[in-house]
Amino acid sequence: MLQTGQPSLDASTPLSPGSARPLHPGRATGTAVVGLQWGDEGKGKIVHLLADRFDAVARYNGGANAGHSVQVGADRFALHLIPSGILHKGKPSVIGNGVVVDPEKLLQEIATLETRGVDCAGLWVSDRAHVVMPYHKAEDEARERWLTEHLAAEGGSGGIKPIGTTKRGIGPCYADKVQRGTALRMGDLLRPDDLGQRLKFICPMKTAMLKALGSSESYDAAAMLQLCVLWGVKLEKHICDTTALLGGLLADGKRILYEGANATLLDVDHGTYPFVTSSSCTASGIPSGTGVPLNSVGDVLGVCKAYSTRVGGGAMPTELHDELGERIRKRGREYGTTTGRPRRVGWLDLVAVRYSSRLNGTTGLCIMLLDVLAGIDELRVCTAYNGPKGKTSEFTPDGRWLDGVQPVYQTLKGFGGDLAGARKLGELPAGARAYLDLIEETVGVPLKFVSVGPDRAQTIEL
Ligand code: IMP
Repeated sequence: MLQTGQPSLDASTPLSPGSARPLHPGRATGTAVVGLQWGDEGKGKIVHLLADRFDAVARYNGGANAGHSVQVGADRFALHLIPSGILHKGKPSVIGNGVVVDPEKLLQEIATLETRGVDCAGLWVSDRAHVVMPYHKAEDEARERWLTEHLAAEGGSGGIKPIGTTKRGIGPCYADKVQRGTALRMGDLLRPDDLGQRLKFICPMKTAMLKALGSSESYDAAAMLQLCVLWGVKLEKHICDTTALLGGLLADGKRILYEGANATLLDVDHGTYPFVTSSSCTASGIPSGTGVPLNSVGDVLGVCKAYSTRVGGGAMPTELHDELGERIRKRGREYGTTTGRPRRVGWLDLVAVRYSSRLNGTTGLCIMLLDVLAGIDELRVCTAYNGPKGKTSEFTPDGRWLDGVQPVYQTLKGFGGDLAGARKLGELPAGARAYLDLIEETVGVPLKFVSVGPDRAQTIEL
C-alpha cells in the first residue's frame, strides 16, 4: 500500500537497464463512473459502493459545483470536492489536475469530515489543479448578473441567456487556466515569493475587470497573498504530484476508480452548449484530468436516474411543469446538494442517455432512484424527438437545437409497491422490470446496478 504521496521513482533515482518497474501493467485496471444526464444522478452512491473493490479513487474534473450525497448507515455526507473514496479508511483519494479547487471549501470539507470521524490523511491534491480564487466567484456572480440585467433591458437577444451557474467560480477559474497569465495552481500556494509577485499583477487586473462588469468588489494583493499562504500551510501535506502517485499505483497493478463530476450533458465540448459547465465531464476527461494513460481505463459505468433532472438554464425536452413533476421532486429529494435550488424534473430521456452512453463508451448502466417512480399510474419514456427536420432518435449536443425539439414518448403501465427491499431483479414488480428492459434495449448497454433507495444496501447488482 502506498505510504506517502511521493512517487516511488523520483528524478534523482538512476535508472539502470532492467532495474525500472514496468511503467504500465499492460491492461486496463481502472473503472470510470460517469453521469449520463445533467448531473446529480447518484454517482456518489455507486463510487461509495465500489470503492472497496479498488485501491484508490480519483476525481478528474469540475470543482465545488458538484455535489455527491453519500448515505453511510444513518449518516448522510454531502461532498463537493473530496472524492467519496475518502469514506473508506486508508484508501488514497485523489483530486486530479483537471479539477479546480476552492481551498476555502476544501478546508471546510476536510474539517467537517474530521469532526465526523473521517480520516483525511489519504487525501491527495494535484499540485497542478487550479485554484478558485475569491475574484473568480465574484466574476461568476457579476457575469450572470450582467447578462440577466442587460438581457432584461434589451428584451432578450439572439438566444443569449444566463447559464444559471452555481456561482462557485468554476467558469472564470477554467478560463484563467486557459488564459494562463493570471492563473494560480495548488503548487503555487507553496511558493509565497513568486505568488506575491504574481498577485501584485493579477489583483488590479481582476479589480478593473470586475468594475467593468458593474461589481464593486476589489482585491488587494497583500490580503490575497496572506490568504493563499494560509491555505498553503494548511494544505501542504495533501498537495503533491498526483500524476506520479497514480502512475506508481498503476505500475504496481493497482486498480483506480475514477469519479466523474457534473455529467455528460454538461460537458464543455459534448454537452448542451452553451448551457454546460466548463470541464470535460465524460470518461475522455480522465487521461487529461489525472495524467493516467488512456488505455488504463477499462470499464465505464454510466449512471442515470430513472427520470431526468436538470439545474440551471438550458432546454430539457421532457420537463414536467405539473403536480407530477412536483411529486417526483419531493420524493426524489430533488434539491441541489450545492446550491439548494429545486431541480427541474422530467420523464426519462433515452435519446439523451443513448447519446451520452455512446460518447463515454459505457460498458454498464446504473439506474438510480427507480423507487421514486413507484405509485405513478402511467410512465412515459422519451425515445425520439420531433425536430426541425422531422422525427429523430439522434441527439445533437447544442442547447439551441434542443430548444426546438418535442419529445416522442413511449407509454408504460406504472408499477406500485415498496421497491426499497428488493435485492434481486426478480423481486421487483413486473412493471419495474419492463421499465428497465426498455432502458437496456434502447440504450444498448447492459444493466449493472439498480438503486432502489439511498442506502448502499438498497442496491441490486447484476
Ligand atoms: P457551473 O458549473 O457552476 O459553471 O454551472 C454551469 C451549469 O452546470 C449550470 O446550469 C449548473 O446548474 C450546472 N451544474 C454544474 N455542476 C452541476 C452538478 O454537479 N449537478 C447539476 N448541475 C450542475
